[in-house]
Amino acid sequence: MCICLSCFAYISLIPLVLGNYHKDLKHVLDSYEENPDCVFNYTQVNSTTIKFFPQCEMVYAIIVINSDTDLSGAEIKAALKNMNTLVGGIRVENSNLTNGLFIENNSYLTDASMLSNIRLYPGNSPVDCVIRVEDNQLLDMEKLCDEGWLAESTDLTTTGNLKNCVYPLFTRIKIVTVKLVAKVHAFCSNTIGEHFYSVTYNGIQVLNGSHLSNIKLIKGRINIQDTNLQNLSFLESFQFWTVRSANSIILNLQNNPEMTRFLLPTVRYIENNAPSGITLANFENLHPDFCLSVSEMIYLVDLRLPFVNLHSKFCEDPGDIGELVLCRFTSMYDLPNNCDIVLGDLRIEKEDEDDCTKLNKMRYLFGSLIIENTELTDLENLYACQHIVSLNDSYPVIQYISNKKLKNLELPYIYSIITRGKREAVVQDNDLFKAELGNQSCQLFPSNNEEYNEYKTGLKYTGGDCGKYTFLTNMKIFFSFRCSCGYQTDFYYQFSLFINFSNRVYIIHF
Ligand SMILES: *[C@@H]1O[C@H](CO)[C@@H](O)[C@H](O)[C@H]1NC(C)=O
Ligand SMILES: *[C@@H]1O[C@H](CO)[C@@H](O)[C@H](O)[C@H]1NC(C)=O
Ligand SMILES: *[C@@H]1O[C@H](CO)[C@@H](O)[C@H](O)[C@H]1NC(C)=O
Ligand SMILES: *[C@@H]1O[C@H](CO)[C@@H](O)[C@H](O)[C@H]1NC(C)=O
Ligand SMILES: *[C@@H]1O[C@H](CO)[C@@H](O)[C@H](O)[C@H]1NC(C)=O
Ligand SMILES: *[C@@H]1O[C@H](CO)[C@@H](O)[C@H](O)[C@H]1NC(C)=O
Ligand SMILES: *[C@@H]1O[C@H](CO)[C@@H](O)[C@H](O)[C@H]1NC(C)=O
Ligand SMILES: *[C@@H]1O[C@H](CO)[C@@H](O)[C@H](O)[C@H]1NC(C)=O
Ligand SMILES: *[C@@H]1O[C@H](CO)[C@@H](O)[C@H](O)[C@H]1NC(C)=O
Repeated sequence: MCICLSCFAYISLIPLVLGNYHKDLKHVLDSYEENPDCVFNYTQVNSTTIKFFPQCEMVYAIIVINSDTDLSGAEIKAALKNMNTLVGGIRVENSNLTNGLFIENNSYLTDASMLSNIRLYPGNSPVDCVIRVEDNQLLDMEKLCDEGWLAESTDLTTTGNLKNCVYPLFTRIKIVTVKLVAKVHAFCSNTIGEHFYSVTYNGIQVLNGSHLSNIKLIKGRINIQDTNLQNLSFLESFQFWTVRSANSIILNLQNNPEMTRFLLPTVRYIENNAPSGITLANFENLHPDFCLSVSEMIYLVDLRLPFVNLHSKFCEDPGDIGELVLCRFTSMYDLPNNCDIVLGDLRIEKEDEDDCTKLNKMRYLFGSLIIENTELTDLENLYACQHIVSLNDSYPVIQYISNKKLKNLELPYIYSIITRGKREAVVQDNDLFKAELGNQSCQLFPSNNEEYNEYKTGLKYTGGDCGKYTFLTNMKIFFSFRCSCGYQTDFYYQFSLFINFSNRVYIIHF
């Protein structure tokens, strides 16, 4: 699903096929509850109906512009001038609609500058919205490519126009999928033009090293699925990564039974063009020996890339961790001072209290956290901790049990808690904490961005101390809108919810 802000009118230049949208319109109208004056109750934009187009900022409509539209682009644009948000949809294509914005074969089109005002959100779709501008003989796209939202698009294709987009600095690649019959589509472009390399093979031999090993910039996600690849070292020149992800998996390693190592070259950061989104990774069903070195794990968590699943263990060899102090946990007593990284389940028990200052610098805990039967009153010694990664699902990632004096369980600087899959915490028999908490739900970790919390710091709490976990109450729901973009989905029935809860606004796409 894609959502579109500021959809304006030049789109009437696109030839369209008439469809039947009464049902879709009804669906939109059934859903609105805000302002009946801003509903455009027609499925067709023409000289009769345009007079009734509401002059509202937010309009509820399905706007169909097609061969029966007896209006010029300028006339439509004038009628839509006050609208900046559309709840509903726009039909703008001449072929199947579900896949994005297509501007094709318009012999008279010379100005597509409206494209830089259009913003397509892919919602929770794993891929970006497709934008194709093709075969418009008089259209110069060259300057537009770096403007507005177009510059951020990770799936923009321009061919056959007077001038097309060029990417002089980088090779641009899109690895679409490496699927059952491992298929790599490398869509590369350079100053000369665009070439399409498509190789089909079963396994790693697919990769035409002479191309993939040169790739510096990847726009879009990396999805390596159902292959015999052993690792990702073939992307040896990889340096820059741009994605658009509200909350989608941008690094997916799935069902690769021979994959034992990660070995992706390091990129410094991931440029995410979604306004307030997060990026996710998923490592699932790889070789049973698949392991990440401590340095790779640090690289991944520092990229702020939470995991949906992380079917991995830690390699014996920690890799290059620079100046960081790595401590393997056996007991609090034996733990050295000044650990930056603790590897192993961190267990703090009776009589360990005084040793807790050894944890004052711990930034990464690569194991679960168990605090049991202590006299601790708070967890201040753990305040440096930013990431907890626990790779064994057979016990909870956090256990706070029978700490009779423990009143404050906060760990205020945690950014992510990563597990193999299950996300569980047990909080039990900490009487002071329980008394302090009353009937409220546990909120042990920061959750500034609650809409994405389920993969960051959100846990399922059990044990007697945490009141029933409650999330949204008092919610006020209204529908957002979407535009002509979707990905193999029935897009007319997909919506976003804006939920306004205690002055915090959540946006949920489904
Ligand atoms: C839209 O038009 C249909 C058919 O003319 C009518 O039944 C429906 O009540 C109208 N809805 C609104 C919100 O005006
Ligand atoms: C405009 O569309 C409406 C509704 O589809 C239709 O009833 C009307 O005849 C059309 N007018 C013109 C001028 O095509
Ligand atoms: C449109 O979609 C249908 C069903 O998904 C498909 O069979 C058809 O080939 C598509 N047509 C075009 C022009 O892409
Ligand atoms: C544009 O039209 C030509 C001629 O009909 C056709 O061959 C070409 O595929 C069209 N391009 C697109 C992008 O639809
Ligand atoms: C790899 O790419 C080079 C350069 O384009 C080409 O000459 C060669 O045939 C390709 N190899 C395979 C196996 O496709
Ligand atoms: C990575 O994969 C390549 C094959 O693509 C293999 O030759 C190499 O040994 C692998 N490296 C490791 C450390 O497994
Ligand atoms: C997980 O922990 C259980 C219980 O301590 C242990 O038996 C099991 O081997 C561990 N699994 C892994 C993958 O380390
Ligand atoms: C907490 O919940 C219990 C049982 O639901 C109820 O009896 C009690 O009054 C509640 N306490 C507060 C402070 O709301
Ligand atoms: C959310 O609700 C509050 C109170 O009901 C209101 O003041 C605020 O403007 C709303 N925010 C949005 C974005 O609708």
